[in-house]
Amino acid sequence: MSERVTGELRESIFTITINRPEKKNAIDLAMYRALADLFAEADAEAGARVILVTGAGGCFTSGNDLADFRDPASFGDAGKGEAGPALRFIAALVRSRKPLVAAVEGLAVGIGVTLLAHCDLVYAGAGASFQTPFVNLGLCPEAGSSLLLPRLLGRQGAARLLLLGEVLPAAGAAALGLVTEVVPAGQALDRAGESCRRLAAQPPAALRRARELLLKDGGPELEERIALEGRIFGELLAAPEAREALGAFTEKRKPDFSRFS
Ligand code: COA
Repeated sequence: MSERVTGELRESIFTITINRPEKKNAIDLAMYRALADLFAEADAEAGARVILVTGAGGCFTSGNDLADFRDPASFGDAGKGEAGPALRFIAALVRSRKPLVAAVEGLAVGIGVTLLAHCDLVYAGAGASFQTPFVNLGLCPEAGSSLLLPRLLGRQGAARLLLLGEVLPAAGAAALGLVTEVVPAGQALDRAGESCRRLAAQPPAALRRARELLLKDGGPELEERIALEGRIFGELLAAPEAREALGAFTEKRKPDFSRFS
């Protein structure tokens, strides 16, 4: 894979970096494949005790590459058991048994937010912002976020992100419970690294078992939800509302949903 997604194991910490700053780290299909492989590699790598995910160039990620939404088929269909690269990545994320820490600077959009709901600890620079504009794009939540975000943020907090598509600043995201700690801009990676080193020094079996207990209310319910979201997402992606939203992004204009009922 190109260097648009990198993985590096150092001092027991497997760092995965999204690295496409010229497109605000938008994740295309090849990058999803690479991310799925890297999460599986980090999980299997005996020397890796913690996974750290971050973005290069002062940005976390602007989410799914919108150009890839032009072909709904490329996402596969979770309902039919056909997983495209994005769904494969989400499955690898869910299966990962190692503590997952995120360092967020700048934009976290779409999957850049929903993946945080799978993290154990999230550190954000003061300038970070968080947005899940799925409905704004004629789409629905993904990556289990329709289950995890209401649990994490409460129903109304989740509605601010998932229904309104509100942009939450770092402090607001921390107040709602999406972010563990806000640090001065530019320091998220250092702060996340500190926590990773502390986690890596913990007794590994106890850490693993404790994390399994924390995730006990996920399991089959989470997998079912991801499959359901995937099915609805696929339907919506092919429908006229999403076509209008995506056309508007490409043409750099405001979408007009007034003709839809
Ligand atoms: N998919 C594809 N390209 C994207 C992208 C995405 N998700 N996010 C940003 N880009 C591209 C822009 O089109 C632009 O490309 P260009 O230089 O060839 O024109 C480049 O990255 C820089 O983005 P720009 O829009 O100029 O930066 P900005 O700081 O003004 O705005 C965003 C950043 C993220 C707010 C804005 O780009 C945006 O809304 N992107 C779409 C986010 C989105 O809806 N993601 C999917 C969620 S499901």
